[in-house]
Amino acid sequence: MPFQNTSDWLEYDKNHLWHPYTSMTEPVPTYPVESAHGVTLKLADGRELIDGMSSWWSAIHGYNHPVLNSAIEQQLQSMSHVMFGGLTHLPAVTLAEKLVNITAEPLQHVFLADSGSVAVEVAIKMAIQYWYAQGQTTKQKLLTVRSGYHGDTLGGMSVCDPVNGMHTMFQGVLPKHFFAPQPVCFDDGSNNIETLELQLQEHQSEIAAVIIEPMIQGAGGMRIYCPEYLQQLRVLCDDYDVLLILDEIATGFGRTGTLFAYEQAGIVPDILCLGKALTGGYLTLAATMTTKKVVQGISTDDSGVLMHGPTFMGNPLACQVANASIDLLLSSPWKETVKQIEEQLKEELSICQELDVVQEVRVIGAIGIVELKEPVDMKTMQADFVKQGVWIRPFNKLVYIMPPYIIQKNELTILTTSIHSILKNLKPKT
Ligand SMILES: Cc1ncc(COP(=O)(O)O)c(C=O)c1O
Repeated sequence: MPFQNTSDWLEYDKNHLWHPYTSMTEPVPTYPVESAHGVTLKLADGRELIDGMSSWWSAIHGYNHPVLNSAIEQQLQSMSHVMFGGLTHLPAVTLAEKLVNITAEPLQHVFLADSGSVAVEVAIKMAIQYWYAQGQTTKQKLLTVRSGYHGDTLGGMSVCDPVNGMHTMFQGVLPKHFFAPQPVCFDDGSNNIETLELQLQEHQSEIAAVIIEPMIQGAGGMRIYCPEYLQQLRVLCDDYDVLLILDEIATGFGRTGTLFAYEQAGIVPDILCLGKALTGGYLTLAATMTTKKVVQGISTDDSGVLMHGPTFMGNPLACQVANASIDLLLSSPWKETVKQIEEQLKEELSICQELDVVQEVRVIGAIGIVELKEPVDMKTMQADFVKQGVWIRPFNKLVYIMPPYIIQKNELTILTTSIHSILKNLKPKT
C-alpha cells in the first residue's frame, strides 16, 4: 500500500528500518529529506538545512550536480552493471588510469571495491597474501594505533580503536592485532612513535602491515597529528620489513588541503585505500591501490591470485560518476577553495575555545572540529541544529563539520555561528 503522507512513512521507517548505530526499539529521530541541491538538504516539511557533513565526507561537489547527474544518465544508456569476472569496460579502465595518474608513481594497480570497509578488507588480504607468498606464513597480523577507524566489517573493525570498535562484544570472532598508542606530536617537534617501534621490534615476525589514517584520525576521534610521525613510520616499516597501508577513505580527494593526505609527509604507502569522495558521494565505490612490488609478491604464490571479487566490483555507473567527479575536482581551483575554507574555519571556530564546555578546537583543510569536555546529548543537539537550519551531526564529545567544497562564505558562517550559539548555551557538568 503506498504511503499516504510523510508521517506514515516516517512511522514505517521507525518501526522497520535500521539506521547507522541506532537502536531498533528506541531509535533516535530521523529527519525526512525530500531533495538535496548544492549545499542544501530540503526536508519534507519544506525546511532547508545547510549541510555541514558532506554526507560523511563524500559529497565534495554538493548534491544534484548537473555534471555528475549527466555522467550517470549517459552511462545508464549503455549499461548499468555487468560482472567484472572475465569482463571489463571503459568506465573502470578510465577510472584506473585516473587513479594511477593522480596518486604517487609506485601505486600502479587498482582493485575496485564496493565500499570503504571492503577496500580495507582487501588491503588486509593483500598484505597477508604478499608475505604468505614469500614463505613468511607467520606474518598474519596488523599493527595499528588507538583511536583509529577503518570500517564496520569484521576485518576493518579489528583495527578500529578497541573501545570505540567494541572489541569486547565481538572478541570471540575478531582477529587480535597489535595496538600502539594514538599518535601524539609535541610542540618541540618530537612525537610518541617509539612505543610503536617497540611493538615492531617485538612482533616483527608476526606483523604483515601497519594500517593508519594519515594526518587525521576520523571517526575514532577526529585527531590531527603531524607529518613527521608518518615520515618516521614509513622508515620504520621499511626497517622492520612490514608493509604500510594508508587508509585515505575519509581524507582522499583534497579534504586535508592536499589531494591525498600522505603528500603532506612526502611518503608513499605500499597499499592505499580510497572511497567516500571518490564518486563525489553519488554511489558506493572504493579502491585499494598497490605497488608492483606487492602485486609481484602476491603473484609468486602457487595460486598467484588475489582472493577477492565482489558481485558489484567495478560497477560502471559508479566508475563513470567517479571519473566525472575526479575531472570536476581537478578542473576546479580546489586547493585554493580548501585553503579558504580552512582559514575561515580557523577564524570563526576559534571563539568556541573560550567556552567552558570546550576542550579544544582543531582545523585541518576543510575539516573543523570542536571537542567538548563531556559527551553531547546527540538527540537534543541534533534537533537544535535543525532548528537553526543546519545539518551538523555531533557524536560523543565531537561537534565537527566538513562541508562540500562548493559552500559559500556566508553559508559556512551560518554553520560556524550555529555551532557557537548552541555550545554557548550548554551547561558544563559539575
Ligand atoms: C578512514 C575510514 N576507513 C574506512 C571507512 C569505512 O568506509 P565505508 O563506510 O564506506 O564502509 C570509513 C568510513 O567512515 C573511514 O572513515
